[in-house]
Amino acid sequence: MTGVILNNVVKRFGDVQVIHGVDLEIEDGEFCVFVGPSGCGKSTLLRMVAGLEETTEGTVVIGARDVTRMDPSERGVAMVFQTYALYPHMTVAENMGFGLKMTGHPKETIREKVAEASRILKLDPYLDRRPKALSGGQRQRVAIGRAIVRGPEVFLFDEPLSNLDAELRVEMRVEIARLHREIGATMIYVTHDQTEAMTLANKIVVLRDGRIEQVGRPMDLYRDPDNKFVGGFIGSPSMNFLAGTVGAGHVSVPGLGRDLTVSVNLPEAGRAVNVGLRPEHLTLDPNGESHVVELTEALGGVSYAHLVAPSGERLIVEERGDFRTDAGARVGVDVPLDKTFLFDAQTDLRLR
Ligand SMILES: Nc1ncnc2c1ncn2[C@@H]1O[C@H](COP(=O)(O)OP(=O)(O)OP(=O)(O)O)[C@@H](O)[C@H]1O
Ligand SMILES: [Mg+2]
Repeated sequence: MTGVILNNVVKRFGDVQVIHGVDLEIEDGEFCVFVGPSGCGKSTLLRMVAGLEETTEGTVVIGARDVTRMDPSERGVAMVFQTYALYPHMTVAENMGFGLKMTGHPKETIREKVAEASRILKLDPYLDRRPKALSGGQRQRVAIGRAIVRGPEVFLFDEPLSNLDAELRVEMRVEIARLHREIGATMIYVTHDQTEAMTLANKIVVLRDGRIEQVGRPMDLYRDPDNKFVGGFIGSPSMNFLAGTVGAGHVSVPGLGRDLTVSVNLPEAGRAVNVGLRPEHLTLDPNGESHVVELTEALGGVSYAHLVAPSGERLIVEERGDFRTDAGARVGVDVPLDKTFLFDAQTDLRLR
């Protein structure tokens, strides 16, 4: 069993506290993804698991061992960074085997492990090349291969794909998913990328300012966010938010030009709320005229209509195909009541 448990971990750099007591349980074999805005502490938390940053308070447990004060090399983890950090003068095979060589493993063992990693990552044709003769994607595969060769119980990835172009990212994302299926090891993966988080994770951890906002399976976070931050962070394009006021059994939403009767426990009348509407749940009504089309973007499979609401607020509607309305046209917006989220405007907490 090599799950990872963080017990109330805190990180301070001098006087500055950047991780504020995080509790988290990652199960054996799970693919756990950390997401959150830049500077929220994703890398710091990952480096605390790796042992590359000292944990100021709390404990880090890997498997059954408290590793809080252990060296990185004793923790049974291997980390893959955004910058591949390969040795330029070594071949692919030497780069992958270097860690084992340093720890005095016999040549034959190293050769076998490198061959195995090379098979998994389809690196056989490149084993004798040096890194500079490889593409970005191939270099990142070598960096991942180096981690595999070490046979860690836990793989740690810090934005491993962000230096790659869009097409290669998709390819590598699929490879990492395959790698996880094949090896079955626990993986913790930091990313900015929505799609990577949604598709790779068994469990997503949404972080903000050094605290966990919500933990859950990707589709649970998407369907059932606990607060406005998670609602806006998960999903692309982001959830639209329109200001609303609670009335008697309904919410009046100037940005829609009407009242919504939603099936949630409404607080007292007069209370300010934010109404969350995902672009993909809204549809344009060509016969309506409450909203003005400011701009449309056709991406091929889908199109986005950017609208200005009667309140002056802006919102995006996603349509299948290449629906195109001229800028300046007036349209209505259809809202599915069962997919409407309400958030308290003061606490940002979800009203259910
Ligand atoms: N060595 C350090 N000394 C002081 N502050 C640091 C140090 N390393 C990180 N920080 C601060 O800790 C916070 C979290 O940084 P971290 O690198 O973990 O963010 P991140 O979520 O990985 O961001 P990004 O998405 O930009 O990589 C930031 O405010 C950062 O400035
Ligand atoms: Mg980072």
